Amino acid sequence: MVSSSALKAITGFLYASTVSAQAIGTQQSETHPKMAWKRCTGKGGSSCTNVNGEVVIDANWRWLHVKGGYANCYDGNKWNATACPDNASCTKNCEIEGADYSSTYGITTGSDSLTLKFITKGQYATNIGSRLYLMKDSSNYEMFKLIGNEFTFDVDLSQLPCGLNGALYFVSMPQKGHGTPGAKYGTGYCDAQCARDLKFVDGQANAEGWQPSSNDPNAGVGKKGACCAEMDVWEANSISTALTPHSCQPEGYSVCEDTSYYYGKGMTVDTSKTMTVVTQFIGSGSNLQEIKRFYVQGGKVIANPEPTIPGMTGNSLTQAWCDKEKEIFQEEIYPFNKFGGMASMDPDKPGIARGSCDTSSGVPSDVESNSPNAQVKFSNIKFGPIGSTFAQPASM
Ligand SMILES: *[C@@H]1O[C@H](CO)[C@@H](O)[C@H](O)[C@H]1NC(C)=O
Ligand SMILES: *[C@@H]1O[C@H](CO)[C@@H](O)[C@H](O)[C@H]1NC(C)=O
Repeated sequence: MVSSSALKAITGFLYASTVSAQAIGTQQSETHPKMAWKRCTGKGGSSCTNVNGEVVIDANWRWLHVKGGYANCYDGNKWNATACPDNASCTKNCEIEGADYSSTYGITTGSDSLTLKFITKGQYATNIGSRLYLMKDSSNYEMFKLIGNEFTFDVDLSQLPCGLNGALYFVSMPQKGHGTPGAKYGTGYCDAQCARDLKFVDGQANAEGWQPSSNDPNAGVGKKGACCAEMDVWEANSISTALTPHSCQPEGYSVCEDTSYYYGKGMTVDTSKTMTVVTQFIGSGSNLQEIKRFYVQGGKVIANPEPTIPGMTGNSLTQAWCDKEKEIFQEEIYPFNKFGGMASMDPDKPGIARGSCDTSSGVPSDVESNSPNAQVKFSNIKFGPIGSTFAQPASM
């Protein structure tokens, strides 16, 4: 995926970390790009105040090398068998580096925006995609309590074609990350699919039993995965979009609207231009009752469309909606594949197809050669109680 700014935490989890010998390298210092966002109160986006935030790139994208030297501990999709014969020695022998955000990873921030490039040709290597987290300060992730609040942002995905996914979502990561590098180095990722493409899990190298990907020279999966609650507010390219809560009982559900008549370049929600995306988490306490989506573009508020599937009505996500959808689509589990940071938005079951992207789009070698200049820009993030971040017409 071009991105995935995991903004963080549905609720805060108390987390006890095991002692980790994971070390920090000294070749490149770590300076987080700054990005402000707004906390809103009151009504209609009129009283919002700036919060000075910063972003950090996930540890998985970082250079991991032999302590005190330059030899790679991990390269492409393989571990160095000498430095990493087992998890424990690997953890001890290797150190993680700071990031040069723009020249190595193609990540830049404006005062309140974040732009992520898909492919960046750096001095030593070509970087593919990235995943960033919003931070409260240099060593803590920002935590959000979603229920009773709304989350709003602008997105420009006009340069994000089929096969790519510019995602923005919340996952319940430990606020301080893991081990010595901690959140400052982007450690601690987890998601609803139990991410297994992680080089480190809970501060330990995931080297033993690592399987390099058969079609991605930059990814693989280890034996251990990291699981946690996830709320996918935004998984999209210029052709398709999905809104997917994963924390529903009993087995998690996956929902997206059929947007083929509605969302795309030149459509009602015009993806050739920047749009504002509003997501409301209606409920109280720990009881989430409904998730509502609006778009704002050209000064107009656009409600989510009603599904075009027979038997389905309503344009927000509720348990009843999910149950009905499940019955119709017979969905079992989350169909999207975030593997290797390269998510495909592709359906593997009827009823999940969105828009006109080919179901085979998303193969790393294809998108890497066809869309070298792809990028996504997120900006103007606002968060606050329902109704505080944008002006919603009374009829909605
Ligand atoms: C693997 O690690 C060893 C040190 O443990 C180092 O000498 C060697 O150069 C590394 N191999 C590669 C291919 O980087
Ligand atoms: C390390 O190695 C063991 C044994 O192969 C494996 O089962 C375990 O999950 C690995 N990963 C981590 C992160 O501990």
